[in-house]
Amino acid sequence: MNPKIVVNGVGTVGKRVAHAVRKQDDMDLVGIADVSPSSTLKTVLEEDGPLHGTPLYASVPDKVEELEEGGFYVEGDLPGLLDTGQVDLVVDCTPSGVDEKNKEMYKEKQVKAIFQGGADASIAPVSFNALANYDEAKEEDFVRVVSCNTTSLSRTLWSLNTNFGVEKAVGSLVRRGGDPMQDSRGPINSIVPVTEIPSHHGPDVQEVMPELDITTLAVKVPTTISHLHMVNVDLGKEVSREDVLKIFRETPRVKLFSAQEGYDSTAKIIEKFRDKRLRYDMPEVAVWEETVETEGKRLYWIHQVHQESIIVPENIDAIRSMFGTAEREESVHKTNENLGIE
Ligand SMILES: NC(=O)c1ccc[n+]([C@@H]2O[C@H](COP(=O)([O-])OP(=O)(O)OC[C@H]3O[C@@H](n4cnc5c(N)ncnc54)[C@H](OP(=O)(O)O)[C@@H]3O)[C@@H](O)[C@H]2O)c1
Repeated sequence: MNPKIVVNGVGTVGKRVAHAVRKQDDMDLVGIADVSPSSTLKTVLEEDGPLHGTPLYASVPDKVEELEEGGFYVEGDLPGLLDTGQVDLVVDCTPSGVDEKNKEMYKEKQVKAIFQGGADASIAPVSFNALANYDEAKEEDFVRVVSCNTTSLSRTLWSLNTNFGVEKAVGSLVRRGGDPMQDSRGPINSIVPVTEIPSHHGPDVQEVMPELDITTLAVKVPTTISHLHMVNVDLGKEVSREDVLKIFRETPRVKLFSAQEGYDSTAKIIEKFRDKRLRYDMPEVAVWEETVETEGKRLYWIHQVHQESIIVPENIDAIRSMFGTAEREESVHKTNENLGIE
């Protein structure tokens, strides 16, 4: 029997995760839940929308009427649905703060739940990345999929650590000011540094790989389509740039791009996926080939992170790990195939 999944919070992350669950043959999306009749909800449920036909529930009972008045057919409310015993796991994609409150409901209703990177690490016993610690989520009731920035660092650093050892990593993060839909966010004419060093991203990577020595610095800039990271790593041994390129080529969900071929900015790389994929999603970490350089044991590179979609495959793998329905390699492969990840 496939695990029955509900996605609570159908915003930037939730609509993508719900669509990704629908694309798997070993889990069933039995509902989505939200609190207001947003334009996003309208679009995804329209006849040709990616979630058309998915039963809609109000996340809390007193929002049923508002959704109905907004023109939606509402099956009921989420607590009521969870009472029926027909849901095995909720992927909670609500804003941070709301997730904490929801956790109490999931506990009471005895359903498993996955939380997102905006939640504090303490919300779940495991902070998850599919490559780095897939097995730790096995049989767990609560798991947190780490943020977009942390996911990109975890994938690349796990791979390097496994192959060469990592003695020290330093990441300089240039973060997008807001998502494309977030028209009220900024900065609009400024660069805003995180004045605490390390920024929270380094400690968050350590939630996934506790042994890793990493420091991160971060700034926020007026762009919407991606983050960009500049990373320096002291490896456990001397390697050539070709050795590193080979490892990056072999690492799932890491993709090399060549500036010489015209992919010389975040915009150019995203444009490729505008031509090729729904919503221009790019769950892969995009590493600029030319930026991979070594000096003895020291390695440098720059990569791009599409914040809205990088965590989507990790949510799918977390579901399989929590139900023990596949081992890591099988799950990663299956997710990639079903989502068209290269
Ligand atoms: N955006 C990213 O790039 C990104 C990347 C990685 C991880 N994350 C993490 O993913 C989580 C969700 O972020 P997001 O960007 O997807 O947020 P979002 O776009 O604001 O979506 C959140 C959704 O939850 C709904 N919501 C609000 N209160 C709710 C409640 N009480 N119960 C159920 N639904 C509720 C919101 O409805 P309304 O719009 O009506 O309030 C909205 O539809 C956060 O932890 C975030 O840090 C985000």
